[in-house]
Amino acid sequence: METRQGNLPGTISPNINGREHEIDVDPEAPILLVLRDTLGISGTKFGCGAALCGACTVHLDSEATCSCSTPRAFCR
Ligand code: FES
Repeated sequence: METRQGNLPGTISPNINGREHEIDVDPEAPILLVLRDTLGISGTKFGCGAALCGACTVHLDSEATCSCSTPRAFCR
């Protein structure tokens, strides 16, 4: 998934595992919920929900990121 800080407007087109998706979700929604609930990608797991356990780790621009505590606004 590619990132860009401060990208708040509605629709984004993230590239996830080589596939383009077009989504329009709350910029404050955690990436984990967007992946699981909006896109149905269940490989990313929920653990502590507090950026402590790493169960929800995804790569944003090749950087390991806790998706439970990172808002969708950090993606484009
Ligand atoms: S769920 Fe534990 S770090 Fe995200």
